[in-house]
Parts: sequence; C-alpha cells; structure tokens
Amino acid sequence: MEKMIVMGGKPLNGEVTISGAKNSAVAVIPAALLVDGVCRIENVPNINDVTVLLNILASLGAKHRYVSSDVIDIDCTNLKTHVVPYEMAVKMRASSYLIGSLIGRFNKAEVAMPGGCNFGVRPIDQHLKGFVALGADVKLEHGVVNAVAEKLIASSIYLDVVSVGATINIMLAASKAEGVTHIENASKEPHVVDVANFLNAMGANIKGAGTDVIKITGVRSLHGGTYSIIPDQIEAGTFMLAAAATKGNCLIKNVIPKHLEAITSKLIEMGVQVEEFEDSVRVSRTGELKATNIKTLPYPGYPTDLQPQTVALLSIAKGVSVITESVWDNRFQYIDEVRRMGADIKVDGRSAIIQGVHELMGAPVKMTDLRAGAALIIAGLAANGVTELANLVHIDRGYENLEQKLQALGAQIVRKVCDDAPEFPDVKKHA
Ligand code: EPZ
Repeated sequence: MEKMIVMGGKPLNGEVTISGAKNSAVAVIPAALLVDGVCRIENVPNINDVTVLLNILASLGAKHRYVSSDVIDIDCTNLKTHVVPYEMAVKMRASSYLIGSLIGRFNKAEVAMPGGCNFGVRPIDQHLKGFVALGADVKLEHGVVNAVAEKLIASSIYLDVVSVGATINIMLAASKAEGVTHIENASKEPHVVDVANFLNAMGANIKGAGTDVIKITGVRSLHGGTYSIIPDQIEAGTFMLAAAATKGNCLIKNVIPKHLEAITSKLIEMGVQVEEFEDSVRVSRTGELKATNIKTLPYPGYPTDLQPQTVALLSIAKGVSVITESVWDNRFQYIDEVRRMGADIKVDGRSAIIQGVHELMGAPVKMTDLRAGAALIIAGLAANGVTELANLVHIDRGYENLEQKLQALGAQIVRKVCDDAPEFPDVKKHA
C-alpha cells in the first residue's frame, strides 16, 4: 500500500503553476465523442480520471495520442459502439457524460450508472429528464442506463436543482438535436462555460453558458479543432488554503482570479493577504487566522469542492466558525479523520461547527474522497509532527503531481510504498 508522509510545520513559500481543470477535462474528453475529426485538447491535467476516460473512449473505437505531457489529440471518427463497458463506467461520476455524448452521436447510449466520490445520494434524475425531453426513451435496467431516440428534438428543460452534471449532459446531447433547446436554472460553474466553449470551437452553437439560461441551437455535425482547458479553480483554491494554513507566501500561477473571488474574499475575512494579478494570485499570512462562517453554494458561491480543505484551515483559526454544506447531503465523512489530528469539530446536520485549536497534531489518517484527501494534506502540512495518509487512490484521481508541487514550495511530503517509518532528518526535532 502507498502512503503519503507529511512532516508538518513548514510554511509553503514560492511559486506553483496550476494545471488544467479536472472537472472540465472529464467533460471535454467525452464531448469529443460528438466530433467527426481530430480534437486537439491542450492543458489536460495528468490525473487518473483522465486516464480512465481515455481508456473508455478507446474501448468505443476512438484513437488518442499524447502530443506532449498535457496535449492530447482525440479522433472519434471511427467509433464502433454506443455501449460503454460496465466496469469502466462505474469507476467515476463523469462517465455520466458519456450518455449525453453517445446519444448525440448515435441517438443511443448504454452506460452503467456512474460511480465517483461518495458523499450521499448522487442521483442523475435531472440528466435523464433532459434526455427524455429531447425525445429519448430512457430505461434503467440492471444498473445500466439505456437511452434510445429515433431522433433528438430540441426542447425547453427546467432543472429542478442547479446541477453541473445535468447542465453539461443536456448541452452535449442538445448540440446535435433538431431545433433550439433552452436549459433553464442551469449551472453557471466555470467548467460548464468551458465545455460550451469547447463545443462551440468544434462548430456547435451554444449561447448563454455562465448564465442561468443556456440556448443550444442543434447542428448536424461537429468538426475537429483545437481547444485549451481552463485552469483548475479547485486546485488553485486548494493551494491558496494550504498557503494560508502554513503561514506561507505563495504565488499561484495560471489561474483565472475571477473564478477565485469567493475564496479570496473569505481568506481576506480570515486575516489572510491575497493579491490578485492578471493570471495569478499571491496568498500570504503573517498574523493569526480569524474564524468565519461559510455556506457552500453553486458558482459564483463558495465551492463545495473546497469545503473540506476550508474546514482544515478553520480548525486552526481563532474562535468558532460554522461551515454549512448546501450542495451535498453528506460531505462531512472525513471530519472524524481531521478530529484524529486534534481538531475540535461538531457536525450538526448540514453544518460543521469548528472551535479553532492552537495547533493540529500529526496522526495516521485515511482519505475518504478526493477533496477530503486534500483537506487532510493541508491539515498535515499545518500540524505539528508527522501525518501518515492512506487511501491515496482518491487524491490521484484529481490532483496532478500534488506532492511534487508541494515539495517545490518547501513542504516535507513523500510517498512511500510500505509502512516504513518516515525518513525526514529533522523529524525528532519537530515532533
Ligand atoms: C460536479 O458533480 C462535480 N463533479 C463535483 O466535484 C462537485 O462537487 C459538484 O459538481 C457540485 O459543484 C464533476 O464535475 C465531475 P451536481 P455533479 O449535479 O455534476 C443534486 C470534485 O470533488 N442532483 O451539480 O455530480 C445532487 O444530489 C467533485 O471534483 C440531483 O438531485 O454535481 C447534488 O445535491 C465531487 N439530481 C446537487 O444536485 C441530478 O440529476 C449538485 O449536483 C443531479 C444532481
């Protein structure tokens, strides 16, 4: 088993470059299924979720080749099937995007119900409602979604919840439907806009992405082209929170500062300095952290995908903070692990009540999902002593070269294959 060993207490200092957005990449790659021709996708993060999706596309007959470490050519001209192997689809949540793309391409799709991080019920009823509105007959049989349409016809679809996945999935299918589709109460997340921009670059006609009504005029076919994925808002936020937690000073490069505004303003409330530049932000802290209250919300609100990392930071802020999770119904499973490190947190329904402690202590902990893993790393970096993290499979799904990037900022973090004691020369001095 692999473990990460973090020797806490060192401020993060220096520069880090943010990779392409995971949640864009995992939608843009399935979107390539709609394209006749070669899509060159740039700024693709090198993470396991991308590898899984490329393997799924290959199983459908697509070809891909890495032009460089973050540029991929995908050619879906000669797809041979609309059926996604069951065991591949259940590996990740984003496999649901294969349904929209395959219906758009073949008027039919057979894809297992998606897997992904487990934080409560994760229905796809709004996705399916969208496909039905576009004229598909959708059945759920033996864990597999089977959708068939004679032809896709545009429709007006009101989403009962603001759903990133449903918005993107309906956009994918509707790009090839006959007529003009409206998605109302659409998600406004940066990666929704990114997928719309990708599709438009390949010849689609989508307007309004980034607002709550998206208008999609169907086209007969999409052509090849080149597209660069936006920087990862959540990876950037994770480094901002890590810099603040360790009393560091980091220049976080290749970001879109507008996407980070909710995080920036909350960090400033906590007493952290944040300077914005054109495509970078500098985060530094010299004084004490102040408690604050946060509610996660769809974009432009505070992102749920930074909730665990923010709890890790607030666990060492002076005073009582309340963080309310309004997107997912059970995204506090990791809190038991942060408590092992000495955090004083109570969960009451959808809120975590955090009584800040003077310092966290290193401990053996387990990642319970992707962002929980990032939270535990932040806690470990800020803690006194050694933290040993297990279940790295979660973090590898979504962060590119995380420990190398942290090491370059001065963190003492290593990955080990066995249960050996850590080999930091100064462990005893700090522990
Ligand atoms: C996306 O998940 C992200 N995943 C998640 O990030 C993120 O937490 C989430 O959006 C919210 O921002 C990807 O982009 C791959 P939703 P998604 O549909 O699309 C309810 C990470 O850590 N809902 O916006 O699955 C649902 O239960 C991951 O990177 C329905 O009720 O989320 C939830 O309460 C984890 N019916 C809310 O909507 C539906 O049909 C938002 O879900 C769909 C969703």
